[in-house]
Amino acid sequence: MFITEKVVQAFNRQITQEYSNYLQYTAIANYFSVENLRLLAGFYAKQAEEERDHASRFTKFLIDSGAAVEIQATSAPQNKFANALEAVQSAYDAEVRTTNQIHALVDLALSEKCHSAQQFLQWFVQEQVEEIATAESKLAITKKAGNNLLSVEAYLAHGGG
Ligand SMILES: [Fe+2]
Ligand SMILES: [Fe+2]
Repeated sequence: MFITEKVVQAFNRQITQEYSNYLQYTAIANYFSVENLRLLAGFYAKQAEEERDHASRFTKFLIDSGAAVEIQATSAPQNKFANALEAVQSAYDAEVRTTNQIHALVDLALSEKCHSAQQFLQWFVQEQVEEIATAESKLAITKKAGNNLLSVEAYLAHGGG
């Protein structure tokens, strides 16, 4: 096995984190569905699927490396939001948290001299740049829209990010 026990444990924790992100994005999508904001709901449902894909990537890497995968229980996502801005903000906060987690994993892979893990994580480093940019633009648009969330839907309908 080319990865160390510390890396295996940290990657297993990250799998649970990615599933937790999946649940949080699903809860946000549900919130917008109930509000009849279909494009926002669709956007966050798609983000949720991406989070599941992230968990799968870590899972495949561990299995390919001959390590055991252990999915842990995760806490419930935030299901209730005071308004759209709070929901969009929670997605942004989740991405900031995830970016810090990924960077900490890179630091660990480097200190453990774990080259395969370090290489594997580069995709995630890049992915988080994209995730933060997308979350930030949703936040900016929602702030601009104020109470008129139909304008956010119109913006999305016209291909806005
Ligand atoms: Fe993720
Ligand atoms: Fe993400």
